[in-house]
Amino acid sequence: MTLAPRDDLALMPGYHSPQVDVAVRLNTNEAPEAPPAEFSRRLGEALATIEWHRYPDRGYRTLREAIAKHHAVAPEQVFAANGSNEVLQTVLLAYGGPGRHGAVFEPTYALHSHIARITGTGVVVGGRSEDLTLDLGEVRRVVAEHAPEVTFLCSPNNPTGMAEPEETVGAVAGLTPGIVVVDEAYGQFAPWSALGMVGDERNVVVTRTFSKTWSMAGARLGYLVGPPGLVAELDKVALPYHLDAVKQVAGTLALSFTDEMRARVAALVEERGRVTAALADLPVDVWRSDANFVLFRPRARDGDGVWQALLERSVLIRNCAGWPRLEGCLRVTIGTRAEDDAFLAALAEVLS
Ligand SMILES: Cc1ncc(COP(=O)(O)O)c(C=O)c1O
Repeated sequence: MTLAPRDDLALMPGYHSPQVDVAVRLNTNEAPEAPPAEFSRRLGEALATIEWHRYPDRGYRTLREAIAKHHAVAPEQVFAANGSNEVLQTVLLAYGGPGRHGAVFEPTYALHSHIARITGTGVVVGGRSEDLTLDLGEVRRVVAEHAPEVTFLCSPNNPTGMAEPEETVGAVAGLTPGIVVVDEAYGQFAPWSALGMVGDERNVVVTRTFSKTWSMAGARLGYLVGPPGLVAELDKVALPYHLDAVKQVAGTLALSFTDEMRARVAALVEERGRVTAALADLPVDVWRSDANFVLFRPRARDGDGVWQALLERSVLIRNCAGWPRLEGCLRVTIGTRAEDDAFLAALAEVLS
C-alpha cells in the first residue's frame, strides 16, 4: 500500500511489551490469580441469559449503577470503557485534540503521552525530582508555560510505584484550570485515593481498571469517576454500544466479590513487603512501592543484561533500562509466592 498514515503518526513508535511464553510472567502487573471459582460459575450462568442478537444496553445502566454504588457516587459520575486506556483516550478525544495540550511528568505511564499523540493532542513533558517524586515547582512551570487542558498524574505511579501525596494532587488541581486525570490503575494497593477529591465543580477525575486487582485483564474494562458534566461529554464521544454485553455482565458480577478482592489486595501487599525485603538483600537499589510491582536497579550489572539473563531462566519482568531517567532499572510485578521465589532465585543467581 502506498498511502502513508497521518504525518504526526508516521514516526511514532508503537507500544511494546513483549508477550513471550515463559514459566514466570511478571511483566505487566496483572493479578497472579484467576477470579474466584464462584465468579466463573455465576458468569457462565449469566452468559446464558444474554440476548446475542440484540445490541447491548448502550448506557450500560446496571454496570454503571454497580460501579457508582461501589464508590458511593452517582451513576452520572461514572464513565466506563474497554480498559482504562480507552477511558483515557475518550478523555483526550473530548478535551484534547489538535491545538490542545496534555501534560505528563516523566518517568510515568508511557500510554498517557502515547494516547495523547494518537489523538493529535500536543504533549508537554515535565520532569520528576531526582528521587522520582513529583516536583510542584516543575508542575507550576509546565502549567504556566503551556496551560495544558489535561494534566496526567499516576498514583501510584507506574513504573516507579509510589503514590502521590494527597497534598500534591490537591496542589496540582489548584494550579491548573484544566482537567487533572489521576490514573489509579493501582489505587487499591495505595494508602489513599483521590476519589474523595472528585466533585461536581472540581477539575479532578479518577480512572480505575478491572485489569489488576479484579483479576480481569482479559475482559478489558476500566472506568472513570468525575463530574457529571464531563461524563456527559465522554458519553457523546464514545462509539455507540462500545461496551459489549459480556463485559457489562462480567463487571457487574465482579463487584459482588468485593470482599474477596480486598483479601487478595491485602495478601499482595504483604507479599510485596516480602519481595521488597528480599530485594534489599541483593546488590540492587529498590524503590518504595504502593502498588503491585517494585522498581529496582542492579548496582553492578547493566539492566538490559540482567533482564535478558532472567528471560533465559524463563522469568519475564519489565525492562525499563532504556527509559529516560530510569537508566538500568527493571520492574517486577508481585506474583504468587512461588513465582516470586522463582524470580528472586533467578535474580540472585544472575547477580552472583
Ligand atoms: C497506570 C496504568 N494505567 C492504565 C493501565 C491500563 O489499564 P487497562 O488494562 O484498564 O487499559 C495500566 C496498565 O498497565 C497502567 O499501568
